[in-house]
Amino acid sequence: MIFAGIVAGGSGTRIKNADKPKQFIEIGGVPILIRTIRAFEDIGEIERIYIGINPDWYDYADKLLEEFDVSTKRVRLVTGGKDRNGTVLNILREITGIFGVNKGDILVTHDAVRPFVSEKVIRENIECAMKNNACGTYIPSDDTIIRTDNGRTVTENLKRSELMRAQTPQTFEISSLCACIEKLGQERLAQLTDTCGIMTECGYPIHIVQGEPMNFKITTDHDLMIAGLMACD
Ligand code: CTP
Repeated sequence: MIFAGIVAGGSGTRIKNADKPKQFIEIGGVPILIRTIRAFEDIGEIERIYIGINPDWYDYADKLLEEFDVSTKRVRLVTGGKDRNGTVLNILREITGIFGVNKGDILVTHDAVRPFVSEKVIRENIECAMKNNACGTYIPSDDTIIRTDNGRTVTENLKRSELMRAQTPQTFEISSLCACIEKLGQERLAQLTDTCGIMTECGYPIHIVQGEPMNFKITTDHDLMIAGLMACD
């Protein structure tokens, strides 16, 4: 079975003067979270779509799903964690609690604040995870990236052709992700902030799915403004 886990448990502190976390802000009349859910609803092979929500916003999100006619047959809310990884792990626990841990089951995890993810990118993630245990979405870096030790001078010029920027989805074969989590233990797990990082720690290579510029993360007010323009038909 294929599951989606949309992480929407953040508070969006880098967006200024918003009265709600960024995933609930409307662009083109539709909240960002609803747009992201719809991208996953369009893929019939996905059995269930779990949304990780901060407990303070749970009721709000619940009402939003109703208001925008999201069918609760496939879409379910789950309590988010204290960081992004915590939210992913809560979603994973919910899935395995209901469906068990089955070899070959797949979890496609995605940021709620990347509403322009394409069907192609989601499908390529699923195909990748059917053959491999861990996959991530990455896009070549257009900019040259430098490393600095002190924030004032350049310590190292990195080779642009070897650099990629990470997007989501990050997609995993569920039984290997569960085995890895068990192997690492709570203490080590708490130090890891990225789900691909968990799998790397267990020695799994992360296979690359090509991302798209449209699949950017809405992080700042500038991103929100661009997203608003893109959402206007
Ligand atoms: N996220 C989550 N649970 C958390 C923290 C983050 O599910 N405890 C989600 C966010 O809702 C978002 C994604 O992880 O969809 C990417 O995180 P980011 O852009 O950093 O979101 P925020 O943490 O909300 O933003 P900020 O860092 O500006 O506060």
